[in-house]
Amino acid sequence: MSDTHVVILAAGRGTRMRSARPKVLHEAAGLPLIEHVLRAAESLAPSTTVVVMGHGAPEVQRLLRKRSGLRFALQEPQLGTGHALLQAEPALRARSGTLVLLSGDVPLLRPETLRDLRQHHQSAGAAATVLTAIMDDPAEYGRIVRIGGMISSIVEYRDATEAERGIREINSGIYVFDLAPLFASLDQIGSRNAQREYYLPDLVRIYRERGMVVATRTVGDPREVAGVNSRKELAEVTAVLRARVNDELMESGVTIIDPATTWIGADVTVGADTTIYPGVYLEGRTQIGSNTRIHSGVRIVDSVVGSGVTINNFCVIAESHVRDGARIGPFAHLRPQSEVGPDAHVGNFVELKKTTLGRGSKANHLAYLGDATIGEKVNVGAGTITCNYDGVAKHPTVIEDGAFIGSDSQLIAPVRVGKGAYVAAGSSITQDVPADSLAIARGTQVNKKDWVKKRSQKTDR
Ligand code: UD1
Ligand code: CA
Repeated sequence: MSDTHVVILAAGRGTRMRSARPKVLHEAAGLPLIEHVLRAAESLAPSTTVVVMGHGAPEVQRLLRKRSGLRFALQEPQLGTGHALLQAEPALRARSGTLVLLSGDVPLLRPETLRDLRQHHQSAGAAATVLTAIMDDPAEYGRIVRIGGMISSIVEYRDATEAERGIREINSGIYVFDLAPLFASLDQIGSRNAQREYYLPDLVRIYRERGMVVATRTVGDPREVAGVNSRKELAEVTAVLRARVNDELMESGVTIIDPATTWIGADVTVGADTTIYPGVYLEGRTQIGSNTRIHSGVRIVDSVVGSGVTINNFCVIAESHVRDGARIGPFAHLRPQSEVGPDAHVGNFVELKKTTLGRGSKANHLAYLGDATIGEKVNVGAGTITCNYDGVAKHPTVIEDGAFIGSDSQLIAPVRVGKGAYVAAGSSITQDVPADSLAIARGTQVNKKDWVKKRSQKTDR
């Protein structure tokens, strides 16, 4: 097979998004639109991938700079899709083979569809192949005009006659070209149209007039080529992506009670027999084990959750690790770099930040544990606070295995509570507590006998 190259057009302004952000950076299912397109492109194993940037180029390049092997072309000013593709010429100089042209705003395209399109193009020996779709409501897509069954041109909605607007076969904006005649022919495109732009689809007419072979391939599911031009279309595309992710997970053995309200990012993994309740958000690179329950209103970002875990309602977990058998929430907040050990419990209104809670340890109610290393089988009483910040710097707290922290205690860091030690309830601990000792650091109680009676005798007088 000859070489494949990919060009992604992403320079347009995206006026209808009404956004300061470039359109292709808007996110669907947790990934920028252009990221979806790049992933589909990768399935073609292209030897060159060129992104044509223009509007918001610095932001687009910042996002993509981590990806290796991308080439960038700048289109300035943006004079239309034909002009955009022309800007990729230097990056493709001295290359031959097949060019697949993608739009940065068409994120639902499946790898299978792209491979099929390339295959069709090559076996037809075409100079160009257009991916088309049949739509019930073709809206403002370009229309495919056929003569005697053969494609003769593509007419943009704004330039179309009433009769042409009645055509339901549309241009997806996805094409395959033979590189050899491409760039010389692109020069022939004019801008005499409603938008005064150089329209790439005009190449079809130019090719046909020269008797070159232009093929078409019609996508089975027209939703696959939906372009995002407005916030409404962004939401529609997001819904399709969400359904795809959820369907795949259900297929692999995950119970999703209400897929319509469950938002799982494209890069999230979930093990079999895990149950996800309505209104759950799993984002970023999150990994969830099997036999785990995630109740309503939970948001988990870039975290690893083990198997047999229960996460009760309304927890937020970010960049943290929850080990097998642990129980979290309701209403718990795990902030970055926290780790909840196997079978450990983090209960209501407990916040962890950069804190490790060892195997079988419990912090069941109303606690703040920050910069703390907590061993195994530790009991952290209600209302415990690690005072980790002195107004200038953060300090660590260490609580060793088997320790017991009485309710409403403050551990003023840096401080260490030794193995098996007890802290009496209501203590303000400022010094290390040796292993197996009891620390009491609170005011001593004084009971004033008959104080109330005496006071009332005084006031009676
Ligand atoms: C385009 C097609 C239309 C097709 C539709 C499918 C043209 C003239 N029309 O229309 O036939 O039905 O896509 O979605 O091609 N872009 C640039 N530089 C520019 C202009 C656009 O890079 O100067 C990029 C945009 O960022 C976008 C893509 O090209 O990624 C398509 O541009 P857009 O303006 O959205 O074209 P449509 O009007 O949707
Ligand atoms: Ca578009």
